[in-house]
Amino acid sequence: LDNGLMRTPPMGWLAWERYRCDIDCKNDPKNCISENLFIDMADRLFEDGWKELGYVYVNIDDCWASMERDKNGRLQPDPNRFPGGIHRLARYLHDRGLKLGIYGDMGTHTCGGYPGTTLDKIEIDAQTFADWEVDMFKFDGCYSNALEQELGYPQMSKALNATGRPIAYSCSWPAYQGGLPPKVNYTQLGQICNLWRNYGDIQDSWSSVLSIADWFFNNQDVLAPAAGPGRWNDPDMLVIGDFGLSMDQSRSQMALWAIMAAPLFMSNDLRTISSGARSILQNKMIISINQDPLGIQGRRILKEKNGIEVFWRPLLNNASALVFFSRRTDMPYRYQTSLKKLNFTTGSYKFTDVYTGQTDVLKDSTEFVVSVNPTGVVMWYISAPGKLQYHPYFKGNKL
Ligand code: DGJ
Repeated sequence: LDNGLMRTPPMGWLAWERYRCDIDCKNDPKNCISENLFIDMADRLFEDGWKELGYVYVNIDDCWASMERDKNGRLQPDPNRFPGGIHRLARYLHDRGLKLGIYGDMGTHTCGGYPGTTLDKIEIDAQTFADWEVDMFKFDGCYSNALEQELGYPQMSKALNATGRPIAYSCSWPAYQGGLPPKVNYTQLGQICNLWRNYGDIQDSWSSVLSIADWFFNNQDVLAPAAGPGRWNDPDMLVIGDFGLSMDQSRSQMALWAIMAAPLFMSNDLRTISSGARSILQNKMIISINQDPLGIQGRRILKEKNGIEVFWRPLLNNASALVFFSRRTDMPYRYQTSLKKLNFTTGSYKFTDVYTGQTDVLKDSTEFVVSVNPTGVVMWYISAPGKLQYHPYFKGNKL
């Protein structure tokens, strides 16, 4: 969507995967969906170095609303869990240079059973979010049919635009229509939404992360052309820092999401996150790859019988990113190849291993070996041929 927003994939934090519909503030005050949770996360983003790296969105998901609309027919937050109201929460974030995202559902109810936005409510809800100074809106799709969605998603895009407030628009529409043409029209989505969920919900497990990555790369010929500045495929949240992924698997999720030019919305507890998970999520070189201004979604370029897969994403100034990923479950695999075999054919290349920081120069014809851990990755940032150049993101800073 050409509204000037999200020219690179959005980054921030989103409540759903980790906090779900926990509304039990009496017994679980630290983790329930309440203004305190979003304030806590905002404080962490602001104080722990996340904001400077680009993680600026703090996004509310389902279960924020009161079961009843107010007397003017407007959505309202649950008064016990959001006593200060959404507008005040938005102010709190804006004062810290952060942005607020909120959630609604095209349909009679949200997936969690809260009031939905039927076709007749689209304008009033868009206006309510604008009045609250919300910066992003996710429009879920439970409890509506294909026809209602076909009308509702474009209508909401118009309604948000008509408020005059820049509000980024996340559409779950394709995920409810199977994610693929002919049911899904990616040209149209790029015109009406800034990002869209194509596929099912992520869970806190490696099998979930892997099945999502597989679906996106198996369908890359359809999906990759749809992405670009202002319009992104969304494989769902980062679960790094939760319970289900090992460190290698966490590095894999981060690497593959960067290759995909995916939105980077963490769903984790920033108050207690381990230093290992934090350093993966705060890796500057991977973030710069994810945020590359060309906004070209990368692809899987090789699927070897031995379980190694290679992914590639072209970047600004003829640089690129490579990921070697292992589906194996036995031991680190010594994968031998050459840059030439990976379509790098114009001389010498300088590369940096984004996780170890090691740099080296390789001739295109030189055979080399990378050791890839089970369910892990090795990821390289590769400069233009012959040039010993860092990504412009670093503006001359050493790594
Ligand atoms: C389904 C969506 O795909 C999830 O991301 C989340 O928003 C839930 N609905 C909330 O009920």
